[in-house]
Amino acid sequence: MELFTDRSLDSDRIQILGTVNYSAPSNIALVKYWGKKGRQLPQNPSLSLTLSQSRTFTSLYFQGRSYLKELPNIEFEFFEEVSSSFSDKTMSFLKDLTSNELPYLKYFDLKIASRNNFPHSSGIASSASSMAALAMGLRELHLSLFPELKTYELYEGQIASYLSRLGSGSACRSIQGPFCQWGLEDSGTGNDTYAVKLTDIHEEFDDVRDSILIIDSKKKSVSSTTGHSLMNDHPYSLKRYNRARTHLTELKRGLASGDWDRFIEIVEAEALELHALMMCSQPSYILMSPNTLRAIELIREFRGRTKLRLCFTLDAGANVHLLYAGQDEKAVGEFIKAQLISLCEDGWVIHDTAGTGARAEVETLL
Ligand code: DP6
Repeated sequence: MELFTDRSLDSDRIQILGTVNYSAPSNIALVKYWGKKGRQLPQNPSLSLTLSQSRTFTSLYFQGRSYLKELPNIEFEFFEEVSSSFSDKTMSFLKDLTSNELPYLKYFDLKIASRNNFPHSSGIASSASSMAALAMGLRELHLSLFPELKTYELYEGQIASYLSRLGSGSACRSIQGPFCQWGLEDSGTGNDTYAVKLTDIHEEFDDVRDSILIIDSKKKSVSSTTGHSLMNDHPYSLKRYNRARTHLTELKRGLASGDWDRFIEIVEAEALELHALMMCSQPSYILMSPNTLRAIELIREFRGRTKLRLCFTLDAGANVHLLYAGQDEKAVGEFIKAQLISLCEDGWVIHDTAGTGARAEVETLL
């Protein structure tokens, strides 16, 4: 990507300082990224719904100096909701960028402050939102140093999506929304190095809601990173990558034509397939809990009875994402209260909606 290569800076240009503030939301994959290759590239294209309420807020302070250090000088300030393992992950992310895309970081002192507005203990992955928010700040620093790149940037967010992918794969889909594709299709559409926003979306999907049923807020017993690596020698990996490709093409068709039946069929198949892959990895593992299965059963029963447009999906954990059309909010809300809330830890449900991605914030955390 020419946005990053062979760019040297004279010491005058490095003498900049500033603080930039961004927030980015979490996203939920409808066609899952599960299996990677090379430098954080996906084995198959994925498609996600960007959320709106569940966000990470990040302030990045940068100050250029005339001498270089082996690594950027970084200070972190995390508010209690942000996990401490995030600082390790962020540190290795920034080291990687310093050795590759952003070598000038060696000339910078950086301060990063971050907070989530959803509880760290909720079981909702925060790596996507946090890496996306940080990448937006790094993008701004990059464009301050190389303003000439603004005219080359194909669309708002391409640089940030590319950078955030290197922090956590799914993060590259949190820059824009409400629907994003990451990964190249056989037809040549899409890109493995950054996500693109889907534009051909029928008005049926204008107002998709996601009520997240917190079935279990504990840390997962097997991390996503381990799960991805277990796909390398997985007996069904090739079959899986092909099915994900087919699902992606079909889901895009469904989104474009307003076909909820197709949407429901593919989204639920993807969720169950992800967990089936975990169950036949070597070693095998199970992240669903009895209440996950009970919720799935109740959601299917309710749909059969009411014919409402709703379905479930799962990420790599026990929590259930209940997706539905905004118009049915009242009926689905009553269903959640009557039947699903008792399956959730302390009756915990987070109601979120489809969103448009990362944004600049006025308030600073530094
Ligand atoms: C099941 O993006 O968290 O949520 O790239 O190792 O940081 P790393 O993994 P991560 O994996 C997400 C897996 C998933 C599916 C998805 O979001 O597409």
